[in-house]
Amino acid sequence: MDSIYGASYTKLQETMDFVLGEIDRIRKKTLEQSDFDPIEHVAYRIKSEESMIEKLNRKGLPVTEESAVNAVHDAVGVRVVCAFLDDVYMIRDHLKSLPCCEVVEEKDYIGHAKENGYRSYHLILKVKGRCYAEVQLRTISQDTWAALEHHIHYKKEKTEMEQLIGEELKRCADELASTDLSMQTIRDMIRKR
Ligand code: GTP
Ligand code: MG
Repeated sequence: MDSIYGASYTKLQETMDFVLGEIDRIRKKTLEQSDFDPIEHVAYRIKSEESMIEKLNRKGLPVTEESAVNAVHDAVGVRVVCAFLDDVYMIRDHLKSLPCCEVVEEKDYIGHAKENGYRSYHLILKVKGRCYAEVQLRTISQDTWAALEHHIHYKKEKTEMEQLIGEELKRCADELASTDLSMQTIRDMIRKR
């Protein structure tokens, strides 16, 4: 394929297929064992050439196949959206336990939300013999918030209005986080009946 990824494009696809396959495997296993689907939906992409070039330039990296595939770790991106917090951690543990994957970076923005309220669990995996993949794991509430915040795309200038928008977004994120905890408690109660 004639793109920034050159001949590595196939390896990126294989990497994505591998990660998606593992996610599907743990999903089916959980469904068989408990009759609960741990996943609401999965989204995935190979970063567009345009975004990759923008990122390489932003980071001062050479605009080459080598840096697109090896210096940047999110050419392959997979987002797993779960209904409940426990399922996020269950999928995380499964991915971390895979012998053919090395976890090269882990960011727990659920335990430690970003200052703006963003919550999500990020793993950068290196699939042996293949490439890196960024996996974002989050609840439906966290995903809703991230989508809205991305949509609003408010400027971070410190005008009074911008500050107010930021504070309101943060308040929504915290309310959603509290709802996630309540929903988890409700599910635990249902399961114990
Ligand atoms: P890179 O060098 O670009 O990888 O930056 P980073 O490693 O500091 O990024 P991080 O791991 O914090 O975030 C990577 C991805 O998470 C982003 O591309 C977004 O998809 C998502 N993300 C991180 N922070 C936010 C946020 O504040 N709002 C939203 N909507 N998404 C976010
Ligand atoms: Mg990153």
